Amino acid sequence: MAENQQKLIHTFGALAELGSEVAHKQNFQEMMRTSLHLLLGSLAIMRGGIARYSRFEHELNMLVVRGLGDDFPLGLSLCYEDERQFLANGLFPIEVAQARVLPFFQIYDQSFEKKRIELAVPLVIRDEIVGVIFLGEKANGESYSSYDKEIICAMARHIGVAVAQRNLLAELERRADENRKLYDDLRMTYKDTVKAFAAAIDYKDKYTEGHSVRVGKYSEIIAQELGLEESEIEGVAVAGYLHDVGKLTVERNIINAPYRINAKESAELNKHPAIGYEILLPIHHPYTDVPLAAKYHHERLDGRGYPDGLYDREIPYIAKIVTLADSFDAMTTDRPYKRRRPANEVVEDLQRNAGKQFAPELVTAFCRGMLKEVTGETKDKRFRRLLGHEYMEAEGIVPLLQNALNGMNGTSSLTLVSLD
Ligand SMILES: [Fe+2]
Ligand SMILES: [Fe+2]
Repeated sequence: MAENQQKLIHTFGALAELGSEVAHKQNFQEMMRTSLHLLLGSLAIMRGGIARYSRFEHELNMLVVRGLGDDFPLGLSLCYEDERQFLANGLFPIEVAQARVLPFFQIYDQSFEKKRIELAVPLVIRDEIVGVIFLGEKANGESYSSYDKEIICAMARHIGVAVAQRNLLAELERRADENRKLYDDLRMTYKDTVKAFAAAIDYKDKYTEGHSVRVGKYSEIIAQELGLEESEIEGVAVAGYLHDVGKLTVERNIINAPYRINAKESAELNKHPAIGYEILLPIHHPYTDVPLAAKYHHERLDGRGYPDGLYDREIPYIAKIVTLADSFDAMTTDRPYKRRRPANEVVEDLQRNAGKQFAPELVTAFCRGMLKEVTGETKDKRFRRLLGHEYMEAEGIVPLLQNALNGMNGTSSLTLVSLD
């Protein structure tokens, strides 16, 4: 007898270990089924079931059943008094016939009677009810011995541990899910704030209305064409939206001058990258290098840019992307003293200045994105929406873009600055 008991306890020890590895819902279900079959089989019990307890809903839900038929309730409610008694009882089997004082056994009396449920074993693990095992009569018609109950108690402990672990995992998953949603909300709020800020920057400059927003979108296109990761693409777009934030401190009449500004005014305007950097630096961005993009978006690969006259490798990657987006928008929109340039001319300009002003890889990525849209290879209308259909359908634009792509094989090495 003692040897048999040891064997059974050992079997369930192994099952409990298996339980700790149960992460998958189906495995868990399978394990419950095996556990029930083992329990019923080992003591020749006719029928039974294992229910899991939801303490929020105060309800027992059947996980697995055997021989209980379709009319046995799959969900059973517990009231406060039942809970209290179950907790006090612990894992020891309760004789259904002796427990009718409890509301639970009164409410479900008929169902238990009909299926001849003799025992209910509360699965109490770490002072918490995680479920209940219901057991019908034994095949030989005898009542349960104290030895049987000891075996049942040992098995119930292991089943209970597995259910508790499953509950814990489900709770962890729920919290992780909640965190993900919170994070997504936060990111959306950040993005909306950035866009509102970009609109505020653009509002000051009546001649280049929507400039920051467009630069954000062009920067995003370049990042997409480069195949950057989603978070990096977002970071690049944000850098584009905010690149001219320093203009908020520049006199409105200099920004809006309907003529070519003089040297003094130009010096004033040229302070905007450094000021933008100062503004953005203390903000905790989810992406790095946003302040650097503002600071260096007027630098050139050949060192003839400002504010620091940096050369190719010294310019952060993200700033190079914004530079291209910024110049492209300047060329393709009307200014007070200058009409926008035709698409063909702009593409030629990009090609001519690749390696001098712009990083060739980026020009390639940009032209590739444009070509895909013009030839209909992609259904996206990213450029069309920003530039208008007519503009994009300029005669000869396709061979020009193809030529630009062939002419640049992207040999310039970029200074890679990590985004996270
Ligand atoms: Fe700028
Ligand atoms: Fe700009």
